[in-house]
Amino acid sequence: MGVVRQLRQIDADAAGVDIAFRADVHAGLAQQQKAFPARWFYDATGSALFEDITALPEYYPTRSETDLLARHAAAMASAIGAGRALIELGSGSSTKTPLLLDAIAPAAYVPVDISGDFLRDSALALARRFPGLPIYPVEADFTQRVELPREIVDQPKLGFFPGSTIGNMVARTAIDLLRNWRCALGEGSLLLIGIDRIKDVATLELAYDDPAGVTAAFNLNLLERINRELGGDIAVENFAHRAVWDEVHARIEMHLVAACDMDFTVDGRAYHMAAGETIHSENSHKYGPRDANLLLRASGWTPIATWDDADPAFALILAEATPFRSAP
Ligand code: AVI
Repeated sequence: MGVVRQLRQIDADAAGVDIAFRADVHAGLAQQQKAFPARWFYDATGSALFEDITALPEYYPTRSETDLLARHAAAMASAIGAGRALIELGSGSSTKTPLLLDAIAPAAYVPVDISGDFLRDSALALARRFPGLPIYPVEADFTQRVELPREIVDQPKLGFFPGSTIGNMVARTAIDLLRNWRCALGEGSLLLIGIDRIKDVATLELAYDDPAGVTAAFNLNLLERINRELGGDIAVENFAHRAVWDEVHARIEMHLVAACDMDFTVDGRAYHMAAGETIHSENSHKYGPRDANLLLRASGWTPIATWDDADPAFALILAEATPFRSAP
């Protein structure tokens, strides 16, 4: 069957630049604490750098999650059942997906990712490995409304949201997203979601500030992307990468720190940054067991199974879109 076709659901301008990217960059630079949504990391270069991050010894989440999938695939398969359409949010290179596809024998696979080229390559690689499986790639921002391929509309569904990407959203946005996907997948659907646990600060900070500087390059690529796509003239060499644990919000914060006073333009609009000022480029929230379950319940997903015996700690939680009922 293979890749059926790739749907594109991105609003681009005449130059091919995502309209929302341009708007978010200007809005983010106009704020008191400058900030960009983390999803703009993932152009082709950023997606490739993220793949490099996942192979770093310090970046444990990918290893821990893959270990959980490999060890508990049979238990997950019996809880999920065969014949569901598997919809993966932020599929990237889909490296962990074969473990799940092998175990659950899905009816179809729908990878959803914002990076079109990356999506195409990984869908083709999976089609070679699973020749009988219909694959419907959707190039879209999964934080927005996504139209699912009509072929899977009547199939029972399993959402797969690995990698602890939910941690890149603040609680309010995370709940909006999980609620929207509950609505898109429908009652009775299942969701298998990866959640990173709170752990010691040294392990956390090293995972986001590796000695080889790959995470720094990933962070700085956001500024290079602005220069490339939005005609910016930001002196990227005058910025440094910073990753710190914030105990109050239980999250790693990544920032781009200005090393000196500087002026630059984006799209011809002028901006100024003072030495030491930062652009907040990412949050990576970590969740204890009760926090994670509350996040899911608040979004209409009832946790039904948890696999979390990896080291360093990470969890895969299976949740069901159960009917809403009135209760005290
Ligand atoms: C994609 N996301 C879950 C990664 C994370 O761990 O927050 C992105 C990342 N940022 C720096 N390293 C990895």
